[in-house]
This record gives sequence, structure tokens and C-alpha cells, in this order.
Amino acid sequence: MQERGLEFIQKRVFEHMGAGEGKGLQSANEFLRPAGAYPLTNVGDKARLHVAYSMEGWGLQSVLTTLLLQDRELQRAIEFNGARGRDAFEKAFKKAVIARGRAGYPEEWSRLTQTQVDEVVNAAGALPDYANSLNAKKSLAIIKRELADWNVLDKGFYTIADFGSAAGNTSMPVLKGLTPKERKKVRFVAVDTMARGLERYRSRFEEAGLSEKQIITVNADFSSVGKAKELEGVLFNHVVSGAALHHDPNPVEIFGEIYKKMAPGAFISTWDWCHPAWRAENLVVAPAKSAVSADGRFYTLGRKTVEAQRGHAFISPGKTLGVFGRAPSEVEAAKEIFAFWPGLLRIPEVKPNLIKELDASLRSGRSFNFNEYAKGWVGRVPTHPKTGAVEPSPNWWLEAHPSPETRANDFIKAGFGKVDVRLILPSKIKVQGNELPPSSLLTHFMFRKPLVETG
Ligand SMILES: C[S@@+](CC[C@H](N)C(=O)[O-])C[C@H]1O[C@@H](n2cnc3c(N)ncnc32)[C@H](O)[C@@H]1O
Repeated sequence: MQERGLEFIQKRVFEHMGAGEGKGLQSANEFLRPAGAYPLTNVGDKARLHVAYSMEGWGLQSVLTTLLLQDRELQRAIEFNGARGRDAFEKAFKKAVIARGRAGYPEEWSRLTQTQVDEVVNAAGALPDYANSLNAKKSLAIIKRELADWNVLDKGFYTIADFGSAAGNTSMPVLKGLTPKERKKVRFVAVDTMARGLERYRSRFEEAGLSEKQIITVNADFSSVGKAKELEGVLFNHVVSGAALHHDPNPVEIFGEIYKKMAPGAFISTWDWCHPAWRAENLVVAPAKSAVSADGRFYTLGRKTVEAQRGHAFISPGKTLGVFGRAPSEVEAAKEIFAFWPGLLRIPEVKPNLIKELDASLRSGRSFNFNEYAKGWVGRVPTHPKTGAVEPSPNWWLEAHPSPETRANDFIKAGFGKVDVRLILPSKIKVQGNELPPSSLLTHFMFRKPLVETG
């Protein structure tokens, strides 16, 4: 038999992972996305999780490697190529996990009805609205300073990019904060995979007075922005993004692509849903005063370092890691995100029990497994919160929500310098007379591309 090379290893790994031709290895598919009745239909594929968590915390590395190596031809090819073979396998495996995870997001969107797409495109709610306006305020403080002596004839438009723009809820408050004189100097770039959002974006920004050449819409996945024809020769002077960057399992790569398109010294001002709850399938509270690693795989207390069991991760009973200023604990953040799901799944009646049992587990030192717990909800009938109609929820859980510290690390790995990382709603804030509840889930990140690159 002819011995096979590195290309074969890569191709076979992609095929088995369902990221190449064909449907993928059945056992791998069953592990990554087990079948089940509603609401288990809404458990997202495990490959969609952040790679910093999925490989160890969710066991992808160990479980899938074992499953894939049951293929004797693949195993033989790896052995035949020695160290290079093993290296090719590891690299191909990580790439295939990311490719599969990446494809999971458009798959989720493609299942939405037209009404649901419109809901995403026009999404507004007190919490995201507040986060978008705060993000814009922080951006405007920088943009206005930079626009003061900006000459369009010399430098062209000052370009502001919005990643995952939908219809523009994140960058519209930036435009609204500019004076008529400042508005003449700017150009907006909207990047999104959903064409419908981009159409609305263009019409809204034109209605607000911008000319056609001051708006560039790019219908592309974040990961392919470097190849977008519309952006040839375009450099971003400022970047914003709201609630969008958690839709990719490997944000370091996305941030690297954005970085390449940014002018030296440009700022990136973003907010996102962040929490430590998807660090592993099983969460355990670390001891008081211990220091938990960003991926939750370890904690250190005094001289002792403790590693989490396979499929487990620690969450800290202390302040949420990676943020400046006031912040609740990681345990509170995990509880808050889990408590969202009964409502999102349209079975709010299960919430009180979930909170009671979650609390009991975490307090007693037992681990908590949300996927396992949700199995007890099979048979519940989802009803639309407004119409009362029996209708399953369009939302999938398991996405690449990072903890603030993981997100900050991703920016730093891509080359950015940290300016500020802060929770958006650590306390109750009044908006138009209504009090918003405090939330541990919305984090604002301000990073900067260095003026001069070193190394
Ligand atoms: C929750 S919406 C947020 C929209 C807007 N920024 C806001 O705050 O209202 C997320 C948007 O990101 C887009 N998106 C998600 N993943 C993407 C990807 N990988 N590439 C491009 N766009 C993506 C979605 O299509 C969606 O319009």
C-alpha cells in the first residue's frame, strides 16, 4: 500500500470533523451535537465554543482525538510521517474544530424565520441600547479629538468600521454624536453576514444625511474581511462592535484580521456578552481567595496549584477576572447567564427551580452541568412571550461567550494594547426614568493598535 502524506492527514481530519466533504464521522457528530427533543434541539454544537475552553474544558481534544484515531488509515499515515505527522494532525484538528464552529453560526441564522431575522436586525432592548450608547460615548471622546484637525483633502475620509453591524445600532449613536462639520469628514464601514441588516444600515445612514460614498457595506464573515474587495486600500481609523464578536470560536484570528486593516494608533471600542459559564461542561466553585486561570483549568492558592478534572473548570467566588473597577463575582455572573435561558427558551416556569438547584450545587462544592440539567426540561411546551402561541425559541445555547479576561487576552495576543476593560452595568442606572437592573454580563473593551509596531 502506498504510504500517505501530510495532505491526506489534513483532508481526512476535516472530513471526519464534518468540516470538509461529507457529513463527518457519526460518533464525532453525536459527541459534538447530541440529538434530543426540545429544548435539547437548541444546544449549539460544542465546536462553536471558544477554543480556549472547548479543547480541554469540554473534552474536544481528548474525546475527538480518540474517535478520529480509530480510523486505521489515518493512524497509519500519522505514524508513517513521525513527528511531522503528529504535528500535521494536531494543527489540522484545531483548524477543523474552528472551521466547524464557524460554520455553526450561519447555520443557526439560516434556520431563522423572516420575522426572527428582522428581530435580530432591528434588535433593541434597554440593556443592549444602553451598552451601545455607552460604547459610542467612549468612541466619540476619541473620534472627536482626532477629527478636530482632520483634513479630508489630505487624508481622505476618517473611517469608522462596525463589525457585526446588523442595521447599525452600534455605530448609529456614534454618527448621532457628531456635529454637521464632523459628519462631512467620516465614512462608515459595516461588516455583517446578514444582507438584510446591511440594506437597512445603508438606508438608515443615508437618511441621516451621509452620502453614498460615505457608507461601505461588506457582506462577509469576519474571518474573510482581509479578502473583501470593497475594502481594498481602506484603513480603519476607529473600530466599534456590539454583541457580535462572540459569534466566532477563535476571536484571536478575527482580531488579527481587524488589526491588519487598522491605522497605527487606532482604537477599537467594543462591548459584548461575557461570562465564565462556558469554560467547561461542568463548573465547580474554586476556594475563597484562590486565583483562577482565565480558562478555569487551574486555581492557585498559596503554594498549591490545582488542576480541574477532565471536562470541568473552576469559577471564582471572587470578583470577575479581567475587569477594572466594581464587578460582581464569577459565580454571580455564571448564575446570571444560566438564569436567562428559561426565558430565552420560552419556558420561564422552570427558572425558580433552576436557580435553587444551581445555588445548592455550587454552594455545596458539587459541579453544575447546564446541558445535563436541561435534559429535565424535555416535554415543556415553549410559548411565545408576546403572542402566547406555542412556538419553539430560535436561540441556541453554547456560543463563544468569553470571560472578560479571555477576551482581553485575545486582543493582546492579536497585538493590541489594553486601554480599559470594564463592566457596563455594575449598578442600577436610570434610563429615561426606568431603572436598569445591574448586570455582570456586559463588558466594554477599549484596546489600541500601537503607533509603532515592535518586534
Ligand atoms: C446580536 S447582533 C448585534 C447587532 C448590532 N451590533 C447591535 O448591537 O444591535 C450580531 C450581528 O453580528 C453578525 N455576525 C455574527 N457573526 C458574524 C460573522 N462571523 N461575520 C459577520 N457578521 C457576523 C450577525 O449577522 C448579527 O447581525
